[in-house]
Amino acid sequence: MLPRDPSRDELAFLLEGGGSDQDLFAAARDDLHRDIGDVVYMRGLIEISNRCGKNCLYCGLRRDRQGLDRYSMAPEEVFSVLAGGYRLGLRSFLLQSGEMQGIDHLEGVAAVLRWCREELPGTRMVLSLGELPEDGYDMLRASGGERYLLRIEFSSPSLYRRFHPDDALHSHDRRVEALQYLGRSGWQTGTGVLIGIPGQTCGDLADDLLFMRDMDIDMVGMGPYVESPGTPMAGIAGPAPDPETRTVLTLRMTALVRLMTEGVNIAATTALQTLSPDGLERGLMAGANVVMPNLTPAVYRGRYDLYSGKSEVNDSPERIIGELGRRFRSIGRELILEDPGDPPHYRERMMEMERNHG
Ligand code: 5AD
Ligand code: SF4
Repeated sequence: MLPRDPSRDELAFLLEGGGSDQDLFAAARDDLHRDIGDVVYMRGLIEISNRCGKNCLYCGLRRDRQGLDRYSMAPEEVFSVLAGGYRLGLRSFLLQSGEMQGIDHLEGVAAVLRWCREELPGTRMVLSLGELPEDGYDMLRASGGERYLLRIEFSSPSLYRRFHPDDALHSHDRRVEALQYLGRSGWQTGTGVLIGIPGQTCGDLADDLLFMRDMDIDMVGMGPYVESPGTPMAGIAGPAPDPETRTVLTLRMTALVRLMTEGVNIAATTALQTLSPDGLERGLMAGANVVMPNLTPAVYRGRYDLYSGKSEVNDSPERIIGELGRRFRSIGRELILEDPGDPPHYRERMMEMERNHG
């Protein structure tokens, strides 16, 4: 269905809808079935701080956004959310925040990681805290962090420049280097892109797919662009494609990245769910195998305001997990608890690294 080494043009053709989506998604599901199984892994998402020193033009947490009440959760608050999730069977948690300079702010995160190592055996912690100095990643890894998610956002340097202010904090080269550093220092490494932002072409998205394949990443977290009224986007870019178009583009990207990689974990993201009420199921049917229910305490929820209409389920984690399990069963997928859900790709990559060094 997909040539072994698809070209940029072939990918762009499929992204534009030149092929059959049903065939594409079925092929992606076959690959998932073969490499991982008909399962869904869960990561409990905790949005630990909405502070950010960067100013990405599309993001509601950007530094210059006025009137947003900023917070950072205390380590003890994070412990109690983690302990609650663990009791329900979750064995992987994603701690997410904006990007801050330096490493002082990482002390609290390191304390959380050390606590997990002691108190929550068999848990894999995922971090998504933006670009850090190398000693920041090292410190987190030494404290027990195992997975790091850093979206490239746009693999095209010119698109990256268009949506990131030209200041010392934003450098496409440095971001690529950060991903390379994570990969070679043994982190289970994830990246992803924004899909359907105004001005982006299917050729750009084809390049993103080739980038993710060539970076040899272990996990993918990508989602559609969603309008964010607190940002300058409206003033600088035209309208985005309509929500259904962005949703379908995201599904095609999901299926294609599944077909172009082997044994990686791919998330069906909150942004997809925001644009489409059954976005999670649609993502899973296109080859995704990870969902990340939001466990952020209600007092902070609304303040992690990345974009408008961010999908929020106001229910207890227990009910959310039960409900998701039922929904996934109805599409023939089993929700896996009590298992951190490592991607086979990571094990292979680590064995390969050992062979090369040993
Ligand atoms: N729409 C969708 N995703 C967004 N992000 C930031 N702003 C938006 C938006 N308007 C994503 C970025 C970033 C993560 C924190 O949220 O890709 O990696
Ligand atoms: Fe900060 Fe990330 Fe938003 Fe950029 S996308 S402004 S780095 S939270």
